[in-house]
Amino acid sequence: MRSIAFFNNKGGVGKTTLLCNVASYLGLHKNKNILVVDADPQCNATQLMVSEERIFEIYESKNSFTIQSVIHPLSIGKGYSDDIKTAWIENYGVDVLYGDPRLALKEDLLSKDWQDSISGDIRGLRTSFLFRDLLDKCNNYDYVLFDMGPSLGSINRAVLLACDYFISPMSIDIFSLRAIENISTSLAEWRRRLELGLKQADMAALEDLPQRLSFELRFLGYVAQQYTQKKVDGVSRVVHSYEKIMKQIPKTIEKEFVEKLHYNSTGIEYNLGTIPNLHSLVPMSQTARKPIFELKSKDGVRGAHFSKVSYAEELFGNIATRLEENVAKLV
Ligand SMILES: Nc1ncnc2c1ncn2[C@@H]1O[C@H](COP(=O)(O)OP(=O)(O)OP(=O)(O)O)[C@@H](O)[C@H]1O
Ligand SMILES: [Mg+2]
Repeated sequence: MRSIAFFNNKGGVGKTTLLCNVASYLGLHKNKNILVVDADPQCNATQLMVSEERIFEIYESKNSFTIQSVIHPLSIGKGYSDDIKTAWIENYGVDVLYGDPRLALKEDLLSKDWQDSISGDIRGLRTSFLFRDLLDKCNNYDYVLFDMGPSLGSINRAVLLACDYFISPMSIDIFSLRAIENISTSLAEWRRRLELGLKQADMAALEDLPQRLSFELRFLGYVAQQYTQKKVDGVSRVVHSYEKIMKQIPKTIEKEFVEKLHYNSTGIEYNLGTIPNLHSLVPMSQTARKPIFELKSKDGVRGAHFSKVSYAEELFGNIATRLEENVAKLV
């Protein structure tokens, strides 16, 4: 099992849309056993994949099994020994651990525990790694993919501490370049502080620690999103200002992730692909609760849309393939 966080602290850059479609491609077309963990209190991944009736049932009851059912007991030091209950999403070919708005309430607690963990406090370290406890119970999956909210807050830090890899979906603008710098600075600082905390901690003081209490997160690649295209002499071209940013992304990645964070880049193509604006296919997929590349005429696909659906299938397929290639190179 490999765990992958889809992360960018910039909001609205297509993280959830990309994650659900790539997860689905891996599940439906690459025969992989996939779990999507909705770790964003906005619950957008759950909302995208689960029917409205089911959403109502889940959130009407306070006893439904969601991410909160795993994280709450762990966050108050109770441990979590039961199996994780996930739901099979037929249309997407993946399992999901439903999101929960109450997860947002854990932000303060995780923040305090992180501060404690830096001085070697075992309880603080334990809660800072609570997503590792969750992952220790997910060994039956090939990949566990985490959807995350857009912040550098403590919930996201806890997800990133626990994961093997992260992918950054990014929009092609100057703000994404600045976001890469922020991510790099935060990751370097978290790693430094964690190592300090682990040095001071008395591990023998607590039993039942997760299997891994170290910062192993590696960068798996980026996906540039939603550029607008214009036609020049009948050929689609990326518009000019975007081209300039597109060229700067690999340099910024090299400087911020490879040089500063010492991530390996030998033989790795970090550019996993570019997703154009898929226009009306996106709301169609949201309404049908289906991945974009599975849309059919009964979902509203007409005329030229059909070739766009095949095009989307190729795009998400290529990204899924490159993702797996990089995982194989970065084991
Ligand atoms: N390729 C695309 N083409 C057109 N619209 C898209 C595309 N990808 C995403 N969108 C739309 O852009 C909006 C933001 O997408 P999404 O929710 O995936 O972003 P996000 O980064 O997960 O946002 P957040 O930071 O709030 O979690 C949504 O309304 C979605 O429908
Ligand atoms: Mg999202």
